[in-house]
Amino acid sequence: MKFGHFDDSAREYVIDTPRTPYPWINYLGNTQFFSLISNTAGGYAFYTDARLRRLTRYRYNDVPLDNNGRYFFIKDGDTVWNPGWKPMRVELDSYECRHGFGYTKFSSSKNGLKADTLYMVPNGENAEIQRITLTNTSGSKKSVSLVSYVEWCLYNALDDTTNFQRNFSTGEVEIEGGAIYHKTEYRERRNHFAFYSVNAKPDGFDTDRETFLGLNNNYDSPDTVMAGKSGNSVADGWSPVASHRLNVELEAGASKTFIFILGYVEMDENKKWAGENGCAPASKELLQTNPAMRVINKEKAIALQKRFETPAQVEAAFDELKKFWDELLSNYTLKTGDEKLDRMAVWNQYQCIVTYNFARSASYFESGIGRGIGFRDTSQDMLGVVHQIPTRARERLFDVASTQFEDGSAYHQFQPLTKRGNADVGSHFNDDPLWLVLGVGGYIRETGDVDFLKVDVPFDNSATNKATMFEHLKRSFHYTVKHIGPHGLPLIGRADWNDCLNLNCFSKDPNDSFQTSTNKDGKNAESVMIAQMFVYVAPEYAAMCRLLGKEGEAKWAEKQAAKMAAQICDTGWDGEWYIRAYDDFGNKIGSKECVDGKIFIESQGFGSMAQVGADKGLPIKALDSVKKYLDTKYGIVILDPPYKDYHIELGEVSSYPPGYKENAGIFCHNNPWVIIGEVKSGRPANAWEYYKKIAPAFLEDISEIHRLEPYVYAQMVAGKAARRHGEAKNSWLTGTAAWNFVALSQWIAGIRAEYDGLRVEPRLPAHVKNATITRVYRGCKYVITVENKDPAGKIALTVTAGGVKADGTLVAAGAKGSTVEIKAIVG
Ligand code: GLC
Ligand code: GLC
Repeated sequence: MKFGHFDDSAREYVIDTPRTPYPWINYLGNTQFFSLISNTAGGYAFYTDARLRRLTRYRYNDVPLDNNGRYFFIKDGDTVWNPGWKPMRVELDSYECRHGFGYTKFSSSKNGLKADTLYMVPNGENAEIQRITLTNTSGSKKSVSLVSYVEWCLYNALDDTTNFQRNFSTGEVEIEGGAIYHKTEYRERRNHFAFYSVNAKPDGFDTDRETFLGLNNNYDSPDTVMAGKSGNSVADGWSPVASHRLNVELEAGASKTFIFILGYVEMDENKKWAGENGCAPASKELLQTNPAMRVINKEKAIALQKRFETPAQVEAAFDELKKFWDELLSNYTLKTGDEKLDRMAVWNQYQCIVTYNFARSASYFESGIGRGIGFRDTSQDMLGVVHQIPTRARERLFDVASTQFEDGSAYHQFQPLTKRGNADVGSHFNDDPLWLVLGVGGYIRETGDVDFLKVDVPFDNSATNKATMFEHLKRSFHYTVKHIGPHGLPLIGRADWNDCLNLNCFSKDPNDSFQTSTNKDGKNAESVMIAQMFVYVAPEYAAMCRLLGKEGEAKWAEKQAAKMAAQICDTGWDGEWYIRAYDDFGNKIGSKECVDGKIFIESQGFGSMAQVGADKGLPIKALDSVKKYLDTKYGIVILDPPYKDYHIELGEVSSYPPGYKENAGIFCHNNPWVIIGEVKSGRPANAWEYYKKIAPAFLEDISEIHRLEPYVYAQMVAGKAARRHGEAKNSWLTGTAAWNFVALSQWIAGIRAEYDGLRVEPRLPAHVKNATITRVYRGCKYVITVENKDPAGKIALTVTAGGVKADGTLVAAGAKGSTVEIKAIVG
């Protein structure tokens, strides 16, 4: 069953009912100011850091679901309704929500009144702009009231939901003209405030939640809205909110547009207050929590309000936002005639950017409080965006590498606002260092920016202790070699990619975190997956060594990789598939000898991507075992059979009920590893079958089962052992986005940036007979037309324009600004 459709020409997903199986959300904002918005206008805004600078309040896991957002109430006679349906949930005559790239629109109507709303964060602005147009289609005059509403968060989101003894006394606001300012803690240690304004003189306002709502009311019956009269309340502690009332007279056929701004402003220390240090004095009409207090200097806020005073200004910013996305997306396009596939090429790139922006911090499954930016996560997310935003990727790689320690290990996470490693979580996830090599490699392959390897980067954010980026990579690579266990495989530490394979944890205490408790000395448990990653990453490292003329180190790295590969064949192979790990007792994990957890996807994926033991046919055998034991109609499960009991020697992986998360869920993140492995092993038809199973656009028709957005990947879909097999959880912020884009663009469509040119090896599915791919690589545009006769067949390239040569399937980088045209015949 579908709950909407793709509008491909507008690049929007159009939702035609507010009753989606779960809130279907979108993200606004691109660099600093961000908001989440659901298809019922739920969600919240924050500045840079969802934990430390939360601007509006949201209630996770509340009843009803998706509670709190930016709400417009329309009172038309006795009927009160919302353009986004919630929170009143009054049946609408029409409803449509369009999620586009960086904006969301609603178009709804009730009793002859139409509301068209646009929400967006313009590029370069710290503000969410809300434009609402009311149109009277009833044939006779209407007098209605429009009431806006947001609830402030007291900035620190964790504190906001826990520290009530303080919070209920600190809330402060100012009200001036059409703007309501939230200035809690501005006086002491904050140099920032937020505001909610409208470009008209309000007929009433509220800033105190209790007055607005009534102590015992829900959002579907706010006292002031129902009564048709605002309380004109000035918040004094408790929960400050911002609400405007506009009485709107509309002749038949007439429209009126209002612009609301939810803004965030930072001030210089000596310019904080009105009337001081040359700042304009406070206005006489101003109201504030305590009249004895100093007043915010509003110069910057007012300038921001003036930039979006008119519909024309908003329209211009909206056009710019669309152009921004046009440009980003023009770096890679895929046209195959398969509309679902072509859609994925577009939406997958959008999700990659969103995931890159937010890491794993803020979604409808990540509270924005728990996690900052993961070392491994962001290094992988990079791979999905580097062709679009190389400069930002470079900055992030610098930040990530700055949280590395001298010995090559790294903080597992860091906070985006402070950029400091998160000491609570600490280090010793032994795969982390290798992801950095992969991320930096991806960046250099894309850009050719070899100088980046020579830039000085701190260890542990130190101002003095630094080494070149190359040296960081060297420490990463050597870290693995220096931490080898009894079977000649890398020691796992707290976990590898699988955060739940906690082989040194041995916890019996429910109050322990699986991730950070370590009761063993870490000298035994080993990871086959890290060994395979090492083999996979080694050619990248060696290539970067050579870019700097370090032939000796390159050779050494290749020797180490060969040794590691041999070791995997020796102690990491189980007969039909790659073993996953060895536990602290030296027992195999992911082996036919095990009762549960006989086979894991990660080592089959990485083993086949790295082609470990290809001369002995191991990758093909491993992939055949994936098909046999792990494949389901909704994708490949992470392991089988699921653990039924808790294993103290395995940790969190055995804590989830069978079929969920790391215990035999369909972890969408590593399905593309198998897809890539299949292409590399010469079986593109299998790759395509797996691709289709989890690509969201292909699941649109079963949205009632899948439940989450059909335009983005989810981290996990319940596995075959679960009662709810096929149901997705944790959409949006997942490494799934980047890896599936890598699988699609680099292996299925087959266009890969390499260190010395663009590889063109399309392995498109058989039903795609002709395709056109465009790709901007190092400033040159490649237009590739593909004739697909046999997806697994020989590839013949002809360069038809652009004056560069092809060496087999590798095409040299063309001149910046030029266009290279290539004809590729496959089969
Ligand atoms: C989550 C984490 C990621 C980890 C994966 C598997 O997606 O963000 O770092 O690799 O789970 O445990
Ligand atoms: C849990 C989850 C895993 C996630 C980790 C993050 O272990 O199962 O998916 O990566 O938490 O800390």
